Amino acid sequence: MWLPLGLVLLAAEALAVKRHDFKTCDQSGFCKRGRALASRAKEAASTWKSPYSVDPSSVAISAQKSTFTASVLSSLYPEIKFELDVRAHADGTFRVRMDEVDGLRKRYDETSKWALVREPTLSETITWKQTKKEIKAVNTKSGVELKVQFEPLRVALLRNGKEEVVINGKGLLHMEHFRLKDEEPTPPVEGQAQDDSQTVLQPPVNPTAWFEGEQAAVWDETFGGQTDTKPRGPQSLSLDINFPTHGHIYGIPEHATRLDLPTTTGENAKYSDPYRLYNLDVFEYEADSEMALYGAVPLVHAHGVHSTVGVFNAIGSETWVDVGHPSTESTETQWISESGILDVFLLPGPTPEDVFRQYARLTGTPVMPRHFALAYHQCRWNYISSSDVREVQSRFDADDIPFDVLWLDIEYAPNHKYFIWNEKTFPDPVPMFNDVAAYGRKMVVIIDPHLKKDNDYPVYKSASEKGLLVKPSSGQGEYDGWCWPGSSAWVDYFNLASWDWWQGLFKVDGNNGDWHWKDSTTDVFIWNDMNEPSVFNGPEITMPKTNLHFDGWEHRDVHNINGMLFQNATSQAVKYRTDPPQRPFVLSRAFFAGSQRFGAVWTGDNLGTWEHMAIGVPMVLSNGIAGITFSGADVGGFFGNPDIEMLVRWYQVGAFAPFFRAHAHIDTKRREPFLLSEPHKSMVRDIIRLRYSLLPVWYTAFRYSSVSGVPVLRPQYTVFPNDPKGFSLDEQYFIGNSGLLVKPVTAPGVTQTTVYLAEAQPYYDYFTGHIYRGKRSGVEVTVPAALHEIPLLIRGGSIVPTRERPRRSSALMKKDPFTLRIALDAAEEASGDLYLDDGDSYLYEAGELVWRRFNAAKSGKSTFKITSEDLVAINNGQNVVDGAIVPVSGPNAFKESVSAVRVEKIVVYGLKAKPSKITLANGGEVEWDFVAGTSAKSGEGVASALTMRDPAVRITEDWSIEITL
Ligand code: GLC
Repeated sequence: MWLPLGLVLLAAEALAVKRHDFKTCDQSGFCKRGRALASRAKEAASTWKSPYSVDPSSVAISAQKSTFTASVLSSLYPEIKFELDVRAHADGTFRVRMDEVDGLRKRYDETSKWALVREPTLSETITWKQTKKEIKAVNTKSGVELKVQFEPLRVALLRNGKEEVVINGKGLLHMEHFRLKDEEPTPPVEGQAQDDSQTVLQPPVNPTAWFEGEQAAVWDETFGGQTDTKPRGPQSLSLDINFPTHGHIYGIPEHATRLDLPTTTGENAKYSDPYRLYNLDVFEYEADSEMALYGAVPLVHAHGVHSTVGVFNAIGSETWVDVGHPSTESTETQWISESGILDVFLLPGPTPEDVFRQYARLTGTPVMPRHFALAYHQCRWNYISSSDVREVQSRFDADDIPFDVLWLDIEYAPNHKYFIWNEKTFPDPVPMFNDVAAYGRKMVVIIDPHLKKDNDYPVYKSASEKGLLVKPSSGQGEYDGWCWPGSSAWVDYFNLASWDWWQGLFKVDGNNGDWHWKDSTTDVFIWNDMNEPSVFNGPEITMPKTNLHFDGWEHRDVHNINGMLFQNATSQAVKYRTDPPQRPFVLSRAFFAGSQRFGAVWTGDNLGTWEHMAIGVPMVLSNGIAGITFSGADVGGFFGNPDIEMLVRWYQVGAFAPFFRAHAHIDTKRREPFLLSEPHKSMVRDIIRLRYSLLPVWYTAFRYSSVSGVPVLRPQYTVFPNDPKGFSLDEQYFIGNSGLLVKPVTAPGVTQTTVYLAEAQPYYDYFTGHIYRGKRSGVEVTVPAALHEIPLLIRGGSIVPTRERPRRSSALMKKDPFTLRIALDAAEEASGDLYLDDGDSYLYEAGELVWRRFNAAKSGKSTFKITSEDLVAINNGQNVVDGAIVPVSGPNAFKESVSAVRVEKIVVYGLKAKPSKITLANGGEVEWDFVAGTSAKSGEGVASALTMRDPAVRITEDWSIEITL
């Protein structure tokens, strides 16, 4: 249908108003140039040749033989020199770096300094071998090979002779060299139009001469009335990274989109722009979009039935990523970054778990959180006074609804001067904290990164006097931007002196002369918001790219890293409030590669709509793929007033996210669980209690994640990497290796849903023991999902430890007994782990922990045994992953402290015959009952359930129970 242009524009505007605040690729000079390069290469097809080549005579293999450097030349600019630096690491990963040599300026090369937890260990076994045309290194153990072709430069990672990752295979590599503003552009090639829009469409006469036609926006660039003067000129980097044998790609959060990333190029592109990685505060973001959001992790997994590979492109500047699938079995990506060196890590897998480990070795494993941080958090903008806080706490208690953490948003601080209390509304902060702490609860207080420019504000004054603030482009004085407090300044955390100063502020006692936060306690934890940074009057609601950070780097170079440093500095500050240090808890909105080391993140200001609830699930999964496993979305939706059905469902989603927090905008109606009427109040209470009963599962999953990098939430492709039917599933997922499979309902009016089972194993309904049988070829089963029901299954073969006594807070559960749910697989076997420590300190690093492995299996022709063993001992004191678990040496005071904790109940699902006798290894009898199942072999039905009451075994001890059939 034909519509007048005006109407089309109006319609588009109504649907996507906020888009106008943010650039499209076309409005961003370097992105436009990068995409133009891709379209010219496409048009030129086989005549296109990358101008970059390696000078074979320059190749210098290091003495250790695992790295080499070489000169790279571009036929476009023969006078400009680049250096390639390629390294083979001990764990089988590779690193490819390229930088301009002796350029007019130095490119930003410090992204890895902030993102990496350590420099990777170089391989001692791999050696580079050079021929006339290429240089390669083969890992004979894994069959993985890295091949660097000289002319044109092309880097390929091969497995058993087949290419799996190819860099510059399409010839889209381009590193714009630094130039002077008045440098004459090379005259456009004859026949090539000079007008921007046309050059993109025009087949190039000389395929290498593409840059010159795109002079628009190379220097000054204006958007939304603000001009980026780009005093250092163009310096962007384009790179194609292709996966010729992988049809699925995951990662590069944060985007409100599916886990299996939809395409942005090609005929069936879902989105017209590339995915944008540029930390931004996007007001009322869309629930289905390629637009940038608060965080950015330049990591992808490419996946197929045969393998998973990862690519980590360590770059902290604005980056756009195009994704296309030339076929269902292949993926092409182009990465276009505004500045920085080329620094790409190739992670060969071959399984998703291997890629997680390889990435975690680079950027660190997720932090082991405080135990309370996994419980339920109650937040809103704002609990307005200390009496409001006390009232909320007592209403929870009156209704027997557990919660662990109460949050204070920005209104506690007069004029939004963080750390300072509004004396009228919060006259007694320390007694308030202590009242909340009475049941072991905590409070979280918001500290944003902008400081009100007011010399009466001691925090600003001190930062200003110490010269710790971000500078404007002139390099003089302090950058001035607008945020909650009005005119504000920002601390420059790229300056390590800021970290010491910041740490001093959080001291709750002591008198170091400087101002510090006396009106707080060690039960107070921190929320770092607006750290993209959000600047209300800045370009695209953030800081001008020309602002200057420590060492003279432009904000442009470090934008995506900036927010992570704030969370890092805060987590250090919270950690070192006490001696010995305690585990911090810091929530951040912005994030980057490596943020997992510093705390949790959330998905920002979602809307109270079903679409937002639904998209929050793959967003959290995607964060986990990229290392940021401790994440969640605002329960209830930040904006708007959800109806009761939506609110209940949102609690179900939240209870199965690693970070479980209800939050709401200041204009919304109050919706704390105690305000709900029946039956919904009870539904929400049950959901929160369910979360508490499963805390042992969450904590164990986090422990595993913190030593392995494998995310706490595991989407289907990570658990069944060979089953293509699961590659796009992002609504159901497993929790750690507990065997719990959940599919939260995220749509209205649902009474049942389907869950996909990928294997020939029984799965059991967590609540009823109803049995569903999976098939080798995969099968969808229908499970009940009325409003009070959560589709939660236990995978056959799992043992799930829980603590089922309802308490006011998780701190009160520390000595509670355990229940074990044993879900037998088809071979009548099961196993499961339980990890415990004190939940607060770092003593677990010295071995003060309990880590058990439970097993259930046949022990004879007609006997069956359930055992509990020490997992650390099983692993010989070695970490299950990389040697990070310290064997217990010396006293284990934590273990002693829980030595009396019992297993109060064991339920075994799926036993094929009724027992005749059950005995403990020490001869004691066990009280039990058995309910026969309705279907022994095939079809659905209720599984047989053997229940043992108080079997008199302790959680810290080795034991075995024998069942005679
Ligand atoms: C931002 C945060 C939101 C918070 C508000 C006020 O919008 O994303 O969670 O409540 O600021 O601090």
